[in-house]
Amino acid sequence: MSRMQPELKLRLKALQAPMESPLNKGHQSNGSEPPNDATLRNTPCPICQEKFEPTWSEEEQDWIWQDAVRVGPRIYHASCYNEVTKDGPARNPEPQARTSTPDSVLGKRKAEVYSKSHRGHRRQYISLPYPVLPALSHLSTAFVRDLLLDPKARDAGDVAHQVAAVASSSSKERAEQFISSVGIPGPCAAYGSYEELAADPNVQVVYVASPHSHHYQNVMLLLEAGKHVLCEKAFTVNAAQTRILCETAKKKNLFLMEAVWTRYFPLSIQVRQLIQQGAIGEVLRVVADTSFGDDVENTFPPSHRMVNPDLAGGALLDLGIYSLTWVFQTLYHTLPKEQRKAPAVTSQITPYHLTGADESTSILLSFPTSTPSNDSHPKRSQGVALTNIRCAGDPDEQGTAGPNIRIQGTKGEIQVFGNPFRPTKYRVIPKKGLGAVRDVECPFPAGGRGMYWEADEVARCLRDGRLESAGMPWEESIVIMEVMDEVRRQGGLKYPESIESTKYPLQL
Ligand SMILES: NC(=O)c1ccc[n+]([C@@H]2O[C@H](COP(=O)([O-])OP(=O)(O)OC[C@H]3O[C@@H](n4cnc5c(N)ncnc54)[C@H](OP(=O)(O)O)[C@@H]3O)[C@@H](O)[C@H]2O)c1
Repeated sequence: MSRMQPELKLRLKALQAPMESPLNKGHQSNGSEPPNDATLRNTPCPICQEKFEPTWSEEEQDWIWQDAVRVGPRIYHASCYNEVTKDGPARNPEPQARTSTPDSVLGKRKAEVYSKSHRGHRRQYISLPYPVLPALSHLSTAFVRDLLLDPKARDAGDVAHQVAAVASSSSKERAEQFISSVGIPGPCAAYGSYEELAADPNVQVVYVASPHSHHYQNVMLLLEAGKHVLCEKAFTVNAAQTRILCETAKKKNLFLMEAVWTRYFPLSIQVRQLIQQGAIGEVLRVVADTSFGDDVENTFPPSHRMVNPDLAGGALLDLGIYSLTWVFQTLYHTLPKEQRKAPAVTSQITPYHLTGADESTSILLSFPTSTPSNDSHPKRSQGVALTNIRCAGDPDEQGTAGPNIRIQGTKGEIQVFGNPFRPTKYRVIPKKGLGAVRDVECPFPAGGRGMYWEADEVARCLRDGRLESAGMPWEESIVIMEVMDEVRRQGGLKYPESIESTKYPLQL
């Protein structure tokens, strides 16, 4: 086994070749001659005779040939090779293996075992002091409740979360009240200012859920104090602020992530994988609607975060970000990093008559790429991102109006049901003659809200020393903020100078 280990670690990762389909790229191995794609695709594993399958790696953000090892001149499934050599030292396994392991499913079956033991090898218990800022917001409550649920219920036994401190900008009493009302087990410190929390040497990573007008100042405070940060969406008021936050995190070697929780749902991951596997052909159009039919004048006083320009209020930054999330995670994020290109943007805004914040925004996005293969034709795709706080995408909240998300490809469509930020089901509709319609329900383990998945990602990034999450990379947060900047520019929506400012520190 000890002789095998270096080989087992050998994972063949696709080389970056911008103009090629991800499936047509070359591959690299540790030090040895990289096998090219043709070798891997046309030569089955000599042991099980199954062809090697490329899979998309969220971590690598690229196609990888999993479970493949080079032994001398040949490439095997690591699991097959391991199986046939487990009783003795590594040897040329071919003749013996072919006769002793005629079962053609060996590769897959053993790959499963391999990946389990591989995960087990890396398993590490993370005890994460997880202070929360600020106190008593509706959202912090949901987030902390999710953190306190048993990770094993969602098959996340490698992480554990601990809420170590809570801060309120209003008073220490609010923080204390939050701790007791949510039932956070001690020890958990309560602070009456964000500065005190930032100065606490025991604090490791902070979840920021203040209004987005304040994110830039709050996150800068924490980064300057050497804290890792998970910050709610919209990340900041504008792209310039996001850029500075990312540069600061990089410079200080700190983790930073925009808390777009929906991206970490198993549903989102499955939909992205289906696209990457070509389940609906080349994806050319996505329509996403995040709209709520509120009685705006009677629901939101002008001071409310939802419509108050002083707090960067409005549908776009609060809800439209989810429509953009769906457009981006399907049409942009499903491409290899080097192929992702920012879209051209056309938009319309309807201002709320009492405050000037947007109550309705419609965005057309034109990407100079198509996914998953970005073939020379059509090599273009379109996104439609809609948001409105006065008319609903799902008026009876029963789904009668149809899905809020439609992802349309040359071979079919994927529909996503439920709130775009917390969808519960997706449907795959193959083109006529290409198969049956399939519905997939995606439940929330332990009755959680679903915020635990992004929290688990933070813990794993910290454990593995990653400064950003592959699921929500800094570069993509910046491009999305740039789209929202452009939409506001086209619609003439400006926020007060103080909250658009990149000056730090600034008293808001
Ligand atoms: N992921 C999601 O599903 C989701 C859902 C809703 C909202 N969000 C995002 O999360 C953030 C917070 O939303 P929320 O609905 O939780 O907001 P909220 O209920 O209005 O809470 C905001 C909290 O921020 C603190 N705060 C600091 N400065 C403030 C100021 N000048 N005015 C008002 N509050 C101030 C307050 O707590 P203290 O006084 O105790 O400091 C307040 O309780 C926003 O960026 C929003 O877009 C995300």
